[in-house]
Amino acid sequence: MTGFDAFPYDNGELICEGTPLSRIARRAGTPCYVYSRRAVRDRYHRLESAFANVDPLICYSLKANDNLSLLRILQEEGSGFDVVSGGELFRLRQIGADPARIVFSGVGKTVQEMEMALEWGLFSINVESRQELETLARVSRRMGREARVAIRINPDVDARTHPYIATGLHRHKFGVETGQIDDLLKIVEDSAEIRLVGLGYHIGSQILDVQPFLDAFGKLREWADRVRDRGFPLEHLDLGGGLGISYQGETGPDLQRYAEALAQPGDGYRIVMEPGRYLVGNSGVLLTRVLYRKTNRGKVFLVVDAAMNDLLRPSLYGARHQILPVRSGRSRIQADVVGPVCESGDFLARGQQVPDARPGDLLAVMSAGAYGFVLSSNYNSRRRAAEILVDGEGWRTIRVRESYDDLIRGESVP
Ligand code: LLP
Repeated sequence: MTGFDAFPYDNGELICEGTPLSRIARRAGTPCYVYSRRAVRDRYHRLESAFANVDPLICYSLKANDNLSLLRILQEEGSGFDVVSGGELFRLRQIGADPARIVFSGVGKTVQEMEMALEWGLFSINVESRQELETLARVSRRMGREARVAIRINPDVDARTHPYIATGLHRHKFGVETGQIDDLLKIVEDSAEIRLVGLGYHIGSQILDVQPFLDAFGKLREWADRVRDRGFPLEHLDLGGGLGISYQGETGPDLQRYAEALAQPGDGYRIVMEPGRYLVGNSGVLLTRVLYRKTNRGKVFLVVDAAMNDLLRPSLYGARHQILPVRSGRSRIQADVVGPVCESGDFLARGQQVPDARPGDLLAVMSAGAYGFVLSSNYNSRRRAAEILVDGEGWRTIRVRESYDDLIRGESVP
């Protein structure tokens, strides 16, 4: 599995579910994100069958890509959801998601977000600090609502991924240090409304090695047993997200080993997972057109119509996405693929092997389905891109390209 199975070449043309990407670009314009419905569904089923032995509650993490149409696809496959904000909850309301399959993560929930969560009666609110739990206890008492709570622990495990997306060590802001769990249990004991139902972790993202997961799970189980022994009837263990995908042909973590480790007998804990990238990352590409080809002292730059405001990952994490020609035939060169934004940090590829493209050529930035559009901005007053969903024979726009009016909505001329 290269990661690009959803976007193969057919007669020298990059296609998605039979539709040539060049046709979509001609009609929808560029830059645009293109997603494959079939790929999203395949990934969901692949995950489901890899962990079939523990029959997990899969809660897709909206932050990876929160387009309503993608949420609907996953909902139809039976997925639950993981949110981190009132805005994400609002999105789930639009598709009529089942609150009994929603977990609310995040290190800084506001009172207003807690109220939304309690009104809706979510499966679990994952708390990350003593003060947050105290606040939740207060809010739930005032509302007279029960809060189903899981404590996210900080297992102090090194996920061996990019430092910005590693979250499992003590130096990170996430989770409750295990030495403080007892303090939180006291708050639970003192509150009639708080019901402790789970314990969880999320150690980072784009993790390719299974070992950090196994280490974190070992620690989580130990703590879960201790908490149970203290008389708290825990129901579930939440493993967060983090499963890595292929950007350059890497192989992801060994899911079979992970699944086997989870299935140790005698537990009786329900397993919850919060995958984001795994489900949508390889299911989408960013299509962009080459505007100019220039050289500075022999260094080649392809100036394209997408920029860091459309896909931030290369600028923010030095992430390397493969860049393929939509029509094959060009040789490859080492070049920078850059956008029109006025920053030297505005690049989609730096010093990578890319197609030796000419103005007018279409390029596909691969594996852009996760943390692509959601991280986009209006920097330089650039309109955010259109999003397209390919579904079998047809395709449709699932988010229109922003207009200039969209750019100034909420502003006025003084
Ligand atoms: N659960 C929690 C609590 C999370 O913080 C995250 C991601 C996930 C689940 C989903 O993780 P995934 O399965 O997608 O790895 N913008 C970065 C990734 C940030 C991840 C943040 N948390 C990137 O583009 O690589």
